[in-house]
Amino acid sequence: MSDPLVVSGVAKSFTMHLRGGLRLPVVDNVIFRVARGECVVLGGPSGAGKSSILKMLYGNYAVDGGEILVTHDGETVDLAQASPRQVLQLRRSVIGYVSQFLRTVPRVSALDVVAEPLIARGQDAEASRQQASALLERLNLPHALWSLPPATFSGGEQQRVNIARGFITEHPVLLLDEPTASLDAQNRRVVIAMIEEKKRAGTALLGIFHDEEVREAVADRIIDVTAFRPAREAA
Ligand SMILES: Nc1ncnc2c1ncn2[C@@H]1O[C@H](COP(=O)(O)OP(=O)(O)OP(=O)(O)O)[C@@H](O)[C@H]1O
Ligand SMILES: [Mg+2]
Repeated sequence: MSDPLVVSGVAKSFTMHLRGGLRLPVVDNVIFRVARGECVVLGGPSGAGKSSILKMLYGNYAVDGGEILVTHDGETVDLAQASPRQVLQLRRSVIGYVSQFLRTVPRVSALDVVAEPLIARGQDAEASRQQASALLERLNLPHALWSLPPATFSGGEQQRVNIARGFITEHPVLLLDEPTASLDAQNRRVVIAMIEEKKRAGTALLGIFHDEEVREAVADRIIDVTAFRPAREAA
């Protein structure tokens, strides 16, 4: 059986249109795979391209070349070549993503922000809210906040809403961009336990964790992104 995520030969550069079309190569020949039940961590210094790689795997950034093969239910799609419609389909059913910051939507309560991915997949609204409540409870979000829109929440409170929203579904591939960066020790441990449960359930996880404790606890392998640093172009 193919691994859920197989990346090979992926290259990315940004073109700075405001700087006379200056090309900024970020990564080249990115190659790795993530198996079911495995948590692979992207390491390397700030600016090495870790978040850019996650964004390419979620279809947020187009790639210059290479393959991003996503396999689910015996069907493989190359995300590097996928149409916008295919990308949306993959996001709904295969690839989940916890971004570093919650994108808040005005007037939607924290509980509904968390329940929404399940409702969008056709699950009963009341049952979805029940599941959302259980996750918010587990992540120690005060009950008084559940019915409020998260826009005014603290950084750590917003991050816990974001984590609950990303973990509520059973996407077979889950991308995590520093999900524990603004959490206290107790909630970091909750997230570690949630990641371990996803691994046991067979989810393929790819994450960025600056926190040493979290990284040690969850990583099966660490990939140093500086290995994908592009060769200097001739000036
Ligand atoms: N949309 C963009 N346009 C132009 N340059 C970008 C864009 N996104 C990222 N970059 C550049 O690509 C490089 C890699 O950025 P990226 O965010 O992937 O790094 P990172 O490894 O996640 O760093 P950090 O640990 O600080 O989060 C940086 O030099 C950044 O300036
Ligand atoms: Mg980053």
